[in-house]
Amino acid sequence: MANGKRNYFGPTLMILYAVSLTLILVAFVSGWVYYSAPLAERPHLEMHTMLKPGGLIGHGYGIVGSAMILLLFLYSLRKRQKFGIRWGKTSRWLSVHILFGIIGPLLVTLHTAFKFNGIVSIGYFSMLAVMFSGIFGRYIYIQIPRGSQGAEMELGDIQSAGETLELILKETYGLTDKALAMISSFSETGSAGKNTGVKAMFAIALNDIKRPFRFYNLKKQILSDTPDIPPKAIAEAMKLAQRKALLERRRAYLDTFVKLFHYWHVIHKPFAYIMVAVMIIHVFVAVLFGYRWIF
Ligand code: HEM
Repeated sequence: MANGKRNYFGPTLMILYAVSLTLILVAFVSGWVYYSAPLAERPHLEMHTMLKPGGLIGHGYGIVGSAMILLLFLYSLRKRQKFGIRWGKTSRWLSVHILFGIIGPLLVTLHTAFKFNGIVSIGYFSMLAVMFSGIFGRYIYIQIPRGSQGAEMELGDIQSAGETLELILKETYGLTDKALAMISSFSETGSAGKNTGVKAMFAIALNDIKRPFRFYNLKKQILSDTPDIPPKAIAEAMKLAQRKALLERRRAYLDTFVKLFHYWHVIHKPFAYIMVAVMIIHVFVAVLFGYRWIF
């Protein structure tokens, strides 16, 4: 809750993920007999008229999925503040970009009816490459500390945000120097200089895996230092402590991840453009050959 207003964005996004993924799973399972049948047998199946790529449902999957994929490019416009699209935080636009970037390709997959050939399959596999590299890119993206509008934070801001967190943990929640030292050690900032590139990726992934276990020990330490701490306060302190540990780690690895993110963009974008080019050719050819949906 910010400024006394409830924030419905996160829960709405979760509902949209849950509903759309469930519907896609139901569509996949109910069409399994068709999708798993050999290509030569499919025209004899009752579901063929509906589920073939040009069928009422199959074609619908393609149109809705492609529309989602085209809409997710609006994120690029929002990021660069083009065409007057200035409303909404960039981070929220990125969340919708990701939603469409996952649901769109899944719908397009149902549209293909798992039949891949010709030039269209180049577009399809480029789409998968963009989608999976997106998941990877998102992981790199969150390693770069950002402000509330999604812009990258300066090193000085990160430093002072870390100091503020330390002060709150000490003064409001009464964390001892021992507990604060534990939090700093969890960040493993000492190895940041040695780990660059892909090695850094593995180092932080390992650090993420170890974190829950380490924070379990931290909780035990806080409880033994201050046994009277109320449950609500310890929950809040743990959240702040996590934020502090991540912030310290992200500060130490900042240069590495800014570089990695730059290289990631260089790989991610061309696949996105290949995919769109093939999509446009594919739709053009389909319309030329007289394919129509409900309009
Ligand atoms: C077919 C699916 C997708 C397409 C076509 C696509 C396309 C793009 C493009 C063109 C950009 C560059 C934006 C810019 O800098 O102007 C981008 C950025 C990004 N995408 Fe995607 N994407 C897709 C799916 C995904 C998925 C599934 C995720 C995450 C799970 C994702 C995460 C990201 C992230 C983190 C960025 C960088 C944001 C930034 O630099 O501000 N994308 N995507």
